[in-house]
Amino acid sequence: MEHLIRSTISCSFTTLTLAQINEDDILCMLLLKKPHDRTLDDLEIIYEELLHIKALSHLSTSVKRELASVLVFESHAKAGTVLFNQGDEGKSWYIILKGSVNVVIYGKGAVCTLHEGDDFGKLALLNDAPRAATIVLREDNCHFLRVDKEDFNRILRDVEANTVRLKEHGQDVLVLEKIPTKSQAADGTMQSHYKYSVMAGTPEKMLEHLLETRLDNTKSEETTDSFLEDFLLTHVIFMPTEKLCPALLSYYDAKSLKTDEQDAGDYGLTQKKSVVQFVQEWHNLAEDIFNEDEQVQVFLQELHSYVDEDCASFPCLASELTVLEGMMSCEKGFQFINTPEVGKRRISPSVMLTKKMANELYLDSINKKQPIKANDENIVKIYCADHTYSTLRLPMSSSVHSLIEHAREKLGLGSEELVLCEIKSSGDRVLYKEDDLCVTTGLSLNGLLFISPRKHLDALTPHPEQEGPSIGTANILELLSTKEIAYHMTIHDWQLFICVQEYELIYQVLGRSNFNKITANLDLFLRRFNEVQYWVVTEMVLAQNVGKRVQLLRKFIKVAAHCKEFQNLHSFFAIVMGLSNIAVSRLSQTWEKLPGKFKKMFADFETLMDPSRNHRVYRLSVSKLTPPIIPFMPLLMKDLTFTHDGNKTYFDGLVNFEKMHMIAQTIRNVRICRSRRLDLEPPNTAKSSTEVQDYIRNLQVIDNQRVLTQLSYKLEPRRT
Ligand code: CMP
Repeated sequence: MEHLIRSTISCSFTTLTLAQINEDDILCMLLLKKPHDRTLDDLEIIYEELLHIKALSHLSTSVKRELASVLVFESHAKAGTVLFNQGDEGKSWYIILKGSVNVVIYGKGAVCTLHEGDDFGKLALLNDAPRAATIVLREDNCHFLRVDKEDFNRILRDVEANTVRLKEHGQDVLVLEKIPTKSQAADGTMQSHYKYSVMAGTPEKMLEHLLETRLDNTKSEETTDSFLEDFLLTHVIFMPTEKLCPALLSYYDAKSLKTDEQDAGDYGLTQKKSVVQFVQEWHNLAEDIFNEDEQVQVFLQELHSYVDEDCASFPCLASELTVLEGMMSCEKGFQFINTPEVGKRRISPSVMLTKKMANELYLDSINKKQPIKANDENIVKIYCADHTYSTLRLPMSSSVHSLIEHAREKLGLGSEELVLCEIKSSGDRVLYKEDDLCVTTGLSLNGLLFISPRKHLDALTPHPEQEGPSIGTANILELLSTKEIAYHMTIHDWQLFICVQEYELIYQVLGRSNFNKITANLDLFLRRFNEVQYWVVTEMVLAQNVGKRVQLLRKFIKVAAHCKEFQNLHSFFAIVMGLSNIAVSRLSQTWEKLPGKFKKMFADFETLMDPSRNHRVYRLSVSKLTPPIIPFMPLLMKDLTFTHDGNKTYFDGLVNFEKMHMIAQTIRNVRICRSRRLDLEPPNTAKSSTEVQDYIRNLQVIDNQRVLTQLSYKLEPRRT
């Protein structure tokens, strides 16, 4: 080895003795040679030197050997030299051999310093994105190893470090991890390569990363990068609207358009445009919420005025202005388009209402229901221990505290400590916390709200009306076809389902009161599941003779089959679970008389509900359906709860974006289910459709399992 070094050195620097030359200098000298001039001995020496470089330590021997033949030495004499600018195209990856550099970001200044052994510049290469920062020399005479893009792609792209941590002021701000992605090549074949995906970050840095490097991906063929959508679907958790809007404005504002700041003019313009593009994507993704949120509206106006101002000097921003104006006018039109009643749609009187138009309007009314909103009036019935009640009219978003205070005033209850609780039909009590929200929509089926001084809580008993019906409705059901029952159930479920706002899932699982947001629409949809389930059990145990019960059993199985056909898995599951309830499943005399065909059908349904391997059968079968689908919502809620309980939202002060991705995945499932409107052919019906609709929408049930089981035993006593 020593003779090799000596011979190499002697040829170029004969005046130096070995003792005067340190290893770095040797490496520098060898790397100054053009790659194709390097001899095998040179490569061996370079390779050995590479073994000591921190940034390369994770690479395999063969990769290091390949690097030895392509690495280029680059040095700069003066502090302040700019290696490259933020927004530039990425051409190389660098390792610092000697000296240090500052990482500078527009609007933030120097965010961190990198030293000997550190590397930089691979984000742009791996993500095919512009440079995320400017690199400025911090001292004179800095030395770098450089790998140019082509070599980087050939040798390193697939083997480069899996995790990249970006720091600002000594703190991690973004953690990226390399994941394989697939894209379609020009010849149609799928190619896999890698890109850095966000694992964790501060909300602001993630937003910055998104605006700077990720927006264009939505337009390319690469469909695997869901960062933007994940961010928008989950931002309420880590960067709620009241934080997101100012962050976007300040990002827009920080981007200088002054041309004296190192090419910042063009760069700033691109970034300003990216804010508008982001807002447009946001609008596309969450139009309803976007249009309804007052903060967003104020923000839109503000952004519009910024863009308008810039437009005077930079006319190329005119298209951004048009985009914003489009969104703003859309917001005005929204109320009009969304009017729930068909009758309120503006139709020119001179136009005859053709059958096709009537059908269109009907479908519109099915597919465009108004969700319950925070400011909507909520009529709250609050009972006292003596079963008298009082009715309050308060906004949907009222907290328990405010309900109590209003009730106190209305009922003249003095200054005693009062509590609000739910009394279930079983007599069980659920006490509410003062900051709870949406208690009315969250009540159990026959549950009622009670108010009481804390010390008299024990005196509360259920109201007789909570017991539910004592006579079944088999006579009504007899007159209805199973298809028509399933049809009206599906329309009702669909309307409840489309009113559920996606963020409600997040509020529900992560805790409404943490967000101070309502979940009323989701509550009602989930409540409907229980309603259908208990309706089935109630009807079965209220059918007095075995013949009636067999008839009902057949009917419910057929209704379930139609629901399945309509892809209404919510009610399908509810019915099958109702029939599997112990109060029904134990009615052996009834089941014995059920024709084999129905037994087989039911057995197949039960297979679909098999919870083993995380509901694999159900998940597989849903994945084969095309929307519209009404999903088995409790399972989606369970998935979200698992994701939430099993993963921290933050670690080391950074948002755990992997968790956000998982949450977004479940929300995406909901989106897919309703990505197409429901368009069912109404069945021929003997009864008036409003009558059927009324029946289906007002199911009366017994929701006390003990009572249901007792009734079941009365019908078919235990066999001795
Ligand atoms: P790249 O975007 O290719 O070019 C600028 C480089 O700066 C970037 O890759 C990272 O390697 C490096 N860098 C280090 N810290 C940061 C930071 N906080 N933000 C952005 N880039 C950073």
